[in-house]
Amino acid sequence: MKRYNICILGGTGFVGKHLVSRLAGEGHQIRVLTRHRERHRDLLVLPTVELVQGDIHNESFLKQYFAGQQVIINLVGILNETSHNGKGFQRAHVQLVQKIIQACEKNHVRRVLHMSALNATGKKKLSHYLLSKGQAEDLLHIIDTLQATSLRPSVIFGAGDSFFNRFYRLLRFTPFVLPLACPHARFAPIYVGDVVEAFVHCLHDPRTIGQRYDLCGPKVYTLKQLVQYVASFLHHQPAVLGLSYSLSKLQAYIMEYMPGKPFSCDNFQSLQADSVCKDPFPAIFDLQPRSIEAIVPNYLTRQGQRENLTTYRSRAQLYTRQRQ
Ligand SMILES: NC(=O)c1ccc[n+]([C@@H]2O[C@H](COP(=O)([O-])OP(=O)(O)OC[C@H]3O[C@@H](n4cnc5c(N)ncnc54)[C@H](OP(=O)(O)O)[C@@H]3O)[C@@H](O)[C@H]2O)c1
Repeated sequence: MKRYNICILGGTGFVGKHLVSRLAGEGHQIRVLTRHRERHRDLLVLPTVELVQGDIHNESFLKQYFAGQQVIINLVGILNETSHNGKGFQRAHVQLVQKIIQACEKNHVRRVLHMSALNATGKKKLSHYLLSKGQAEDLLHIIDTLQATSLRPSVIFGAGDSFFNRFYRLLRFTPFVLPLACPHARFAPIYVGDVVEAFVHCLHDPRTIGQRYDLCGPKVYTLKQLVQYVASFLHHQPAVLGLSYSLSKLQAYIMEYMPGKPFSCDNFQSLQADSVCKDPFPAIFDLQPRSIEAIVPNYLTRQGQRENLTTYRSRAQLYTRQRQ
């Protein structure tokens, strides 16, 4: 098996950490560019991983650190922007890819593996997120000096995901009923391990050059079914109340202006398109995608047990202090 020098942008995130450890296991030399080196020191236990701190939006930084690399993997993506006009999405997705292309040209790097998203399209505006993701993907695929492959997954699950874990945390503090926007939006969640295997396959298989692959898990669920599934892991099993279209829009509008933007008008727009695949899982990857039922109980239950232990520990400390 050929080993590569690979530079990864966004390698410290949820998908990134899974991918970096899988690639390190194959012995590739991996350079991860990050804004916060100290926060992600855990990656340094992997013997062939180098963490470089810097601003990936700075062209000279990219040009400097793409030197000597054979493959670039771009995993950078945001679901929310601080502004409200799409400029944040344009910067994080489109402008970044323009800079990646320039840095590749400067360093004669040809192979780029790019993480896009299902429904991303540069041709019509479903949401700022999907538009900018689609435009970024198109940019990479029209440059003929590059050998680009894009993966376009539905929502991704696995240890450390933001989807199931976020609803789990939210439902833990929901005493009775969770009002849920866009309950009928449909998803085909895909396991992070399967996405990672698809990336690794692309690295070694030249037939994937120039291709864009939609990636979905084996089953389709509505958002409400998925949130009810998460609620089933909790002792108090809160109910999930699906909101109508207008109330969902109102919730998005209110939450857009809340600290941390837990839900936004742009998320609402993205959810108007079902995140499901037209075709079966691409045969080229030669794998059976795993289901949420096979994977999610392993990490949501463990998280619950860990959080229970923390609660018991603090209750015990409080009890001891009261007795002293
Ligand atoms: N998770 C999903 O369900 C899902 C579904 C479809 C598509 N995707 C796509 O898959 C990719 C990876 O997703 P993920 O869930 O692993 O994301 P994530 O956990 O949020 O990680 C993304 C990484 O990108 C970097 N990053 C984020 N915003 C940035 C910014 N404004 N400027 C510079 N760097 C930034 C961060 O690295 P540093 O903090 O180290 O700089 C972060 O670790 C994204 O492109 C996402 O759009 C994800």
